[in-house]
Amino acid sequence: MRLLVTGAGSGLGRFLCRRFDAVPFTRATPVANFVGEPPFDAIVHCAAGAHRGITDRTLYRYLADNVLLTRDVCRVPHRRFIYISSIAVYPPDSSDTAVDVVIPCDHPHDLYRLLKLGGESITRELATRPLILRISGMLGPDARPNSITRILTEAEPTLTLAADSSFNYMLHDDVGDFIDLALARDLEGVYNVAAAANVRLGEIAEHFARTVRWGGFVYRTPAIAAAAAAALLPSLRHTTLENVIRYHGAPAAAGTRA
Ligand SMILES: NC(=O)c1ccc[n+]([C@@H]2O[C@H](COP(=O)([O-])OP(=O)(O)OC[C@H]3O[C@@H](n4cnc5c(N)ncnc54)[C@H](OP(=O)(O)O)[C@@H]3O)[C@@H](O)[C@H]2O)c1
Repeated sequence: MRLLVTGAGSGLGRFLCRRFDAVPFTRATPVANFVGEPPFDAIVHCAAGAHRGITDRTLYRYLADNVLLTRDVCRVPHRRFIYISSIAVYPPDSSDTAVDVVIPCDHPHDLYRLLKLGGESITRELATRPLILRISGMLGPDARPNSITRILTEAEPTLTLAADSSFNYMLHDDVGDFIDLALARDLEGVYNVAAAANVRLGEIAEHFARTVRWGGFVYRTPAIAAAAAAALLPSLRHTTLENVIRYHGAPAAAGTRA
């Protein structure tokens, strides 16, 4: 199977490109290279801009990386298209995160959420046999450092987040396994692909006996309705805490030597 993976320079894209021995698409790859060429069996569109503090001066670059690129990549001939979206499309106070819930877009407080929804809408409109994966945070060797990896690896990290902040994390391997399965079973539509339960950062620090200097900002991830994906892929039945242990190993028992 011949795959094109965008965002192949880092993070999930780099991981998937290696795993599927895919053709890499980076900033150095012109879309025009592929137009008129035989279709890819599938495109996995991971590329996205994750800049912060967007202003009127930087908005174009943000739109280009998140929205215009998606439209351009849809022009590359393909038989199916997997758009990597995010559970961040659900506002933090969501009580319903079913994939068919209506998400308001006319009073956005989060530009990232709006542009992931924009990417989803472009994919639905322009791609062939689209599959949208609303994925959670991820742990893996190619992942950028985040609050969880900082808690696990730094001595007394200083975070801006409060201990009560909650997150949902799985492994890069879980996303790769779900894409494998999606390609084998011809899945289409929208799936939440995430751990079975969120975790508070404070629980992780307690579980691994880490000292953290907490900040005051509480970030909340709503409970994610991911049963449909977990019914297909058993590794998605793990909770976030179990996934942190799968990634890092269990904490050493008290009294044992490292
Ligand atoms: N990380 C998470 O916890 C998380 C959670 C939910 C969903 N997601 C989604 O998962 C996907 C991968 O995230 P990640 O954090 O693993 O990725 P990442 O490390 O931020 O990598 C994204 C890649 O996309 C590339 N890119 C951005 N704009 C591009 C453009 N115009 N042309 C070509 N390449 C471009 C970036 O290149 P540069 O380095 O040159 O900018 C970078 O290599 C994204 O779609 C993200 O929204 C991530």
